[in-house]
Amino acid sequence: MREKLKNVKQTAQQAITEARDIESLKELQVKFLGRKGEITGVLRGLKDLPGNQRAEVGKAANLLKNELEIMVEEKLAQFNQLELERRLQKEQIDVTLPGRPLNAGRRHPLNLIMNEVKEIFTGMGFEVAEGPEVELDYYNFEALNVPPEHPARDMQDSFYITDQQLLRTHTSPVQVRTMEKKRPHLPVRIIVPGKVYRRDDDATHSPMFHQVEGLVLDHHITFADLRGTLAEFAHGVFGDQLEVRFRPSFFPFTEPSAEMDISCVMCGGTGCRVCSHTGWLEILGAGMVHPRVLAVSGYDPEEVTGFAFGMGIERITMLKYEVNDLRMFFENDLRFLEQF
Ligand code: PHE
Repeated sequence: MREKLKNVKQTAQQAITEARDIESLKELQVKFLGRKGEITGVLRGLKDLPGNQRAEVGKAANLLKNELEIMVEEKLAQFNQLELERRLQKEQIDVTLPGRPLNAGRRHPLNLIMNEVKEIFTGMGFEVAEGPEVELDYYNFEALNVPPEHPARDMQDSFYITDQQLLRTHTSPVQVRTMEKKRPHLPVRIIVPGKVYRRDDDATHSPMFHQVEGLVLDHHITFADLRGTLAEFAHGVFGDQLEVRFRPSFFPFTEPSAEMDISCVMCGGTGCRVCSHTGWLEILGAGMVHPRVLAVSGYDPEEVTGFAFGMGIERITMLKYEVNDLRMFFENDLRFLEQF
């Protein structure tokens, strides 16, 4: 028995020392220390020994068992330590590496100009109002004094949904909706940014485009207020050196009506291709709110006057950033969009 213990001690110590990984170590643990292991075998055999040897061999076997257990534990700890070091090595990050740059998005040029226009008018005391893009014929045409035979009402020019509903062709219906909501409140000072739709599609027309409408109502509003407000706006967007002029025009919902021109942003007024050698660029339509529009919207035309205007945001953006093809705005080509 003593011989046997000595053998076990030698082979076990050598095997444990030479174990290459956790798995083989666990196998050795079972082999020597397990319930059916070699040392347990020796302990079980104690009962067959003569009494005087039993105590001695038993003690030696238990000592060996403790010794080997400690050896296995230490070896296990070593493997765990190695494993941990390997993992740390693999997960190591170099905090001195430069970061990966994030590509920040940016605003669309139409949004930039839309925001600028809004800021200029809210700075003058206007509120922002909105209305539906699918609009009733009543608000888009009838309440705006547009006669039944007007060309804009043609199926060729407008997107109809039913015979009573269409995609709004301008933001002017929000004039009427706002007046209906606010009457008899005065003053009214709103701008209406939004999308509008017309059956057009070429280098200078898109079936969807953006307008900003304006409406001012109060006692004693005159054409001079219209001129002053819109000149202030034009100078705000294009700079103070710019000149404005008003030409007579016609809209069914304003009387008198006008179009506002600014001196050409390309040539400064001397004449070039962009302004067709006139020195002037048309940028918006405007006029004094027609008495009939006031009346159907619930304001007394004898008491209240006002002016309204409407402008195309694509056109203003094209002039400001010198973009020569409207379709660029809708193609979402990064090479274009990244320039703003
Ligand atoms: N609604 C007109 C258009 O789309 C513009 C306009 C608005 C003109 C308000 C006068 C007053 O062309």
